[in-house]
Amino acid sequence: MDDIDFLFSNNRAWARRMCDDDPAFFSRLAEQQAPRYLWIGCSDSRVPANQIIGLAPGEIFVHRNVANLVVFTDLNCLSVIQYAVDVLEVEHVMVVGHYGCGGVQAVLERRKLGLVDSWLHHVEDLMHMHARRLDAIADPHERADRLCEINVLEQVGHVGRLPMVEDAWNRGQKLTLHGMIYGIHDGLLRELCPGITAPVEPAAWRRTALRALFDRPGGRAARPSRQGADDCERPGGAAAGDGEG
Ligand code: CO
Repeated sequence: MDDIDFLFSNNRAWARRMCDDDPAFFSRLAEQQAPRYLWIGCSDSRVPANQIIGLAPGEIFVHRNVANLVVFTDLNCLSVIQYAVDVLEVEHVMVVGHYGCGGVQAVLERRKLGLVDSWLHHVEDLMHMHARRLDAIADPHERADRLCEINVLEQVGHVGRLPMVEDAWNRGQKLTLHGMIYGIHDGLLRELCPGITAPVEPAAWRRTALRALFDRPGGRAARPSRQGADDCERPGGAAAGDGEG
C-alpha cells in the first residue's frame, strides 16, 4: 500500500467508526455547521486543533498558518475571521501558539528558509520590538518560549482591533478573544491572558498582558487552561510607564 492508498484506507475505517458510533453523524453535519469556536493556530503538524481539545468535526472552525499570525493585510486569515464572526457567529476566537514553534525558532536563530522568511518578518519585528526583555533572558530555550508567548499576545491584540470584531461587540454579539499556548512536550493547553469580551484600548491591553507574562514566576506558563488566567491582570488595567511592549 503506498503513502496515499494508506490515507484512503484510514479514511474509510474512520468513516465506518464514526457511523458505528452515531449513524446520523454525517447526515447531520451535511445539513449545516454551527461551531462555537474559531481556532487560529500554527500549521505545525504536531498541533491539530480538533484532537488537542477533543472536538469532533463541525465543532471548531480552523485557520492555521506558519507561526499563527494575524496579519492586517492577510485576506485569507481576515476572511476566515469575518466569516466566523459574522456568519457562523462563533462565541470564542482563540489564538493558539505553541512552544517549540519552528517559525519562531528560525527567527531567533536568524536561519534563512526561503520565501517563508518574508512571512516570518512579522515575528522578527516582534523580536526587535521586545529585544530589551528577550535579550535579558540568558537561556535560549526560555527566550524562545517567551517569544512564542509574546507572539500569541500580539496576535490576540490584532484580532481585537479588527473592524468585524469591534462591530460584533458594538452590536452586542457575544464574543470572547483568547490567547493560548500549547506544549508539544506535554500535550497541555495554557491560557496566556484573560479572555477579552469587549473593546479594549489596544496599547494599554498590550502593556498589561505583556507585563503579566514577564512578571510571572520564571519558566513556561506552567499551569494548563483557565487556572493560568489568575496570573494576568484584567485587560485595560495597565499602569502607564512601561516603555516596551
Ligand atoms: Co509553529
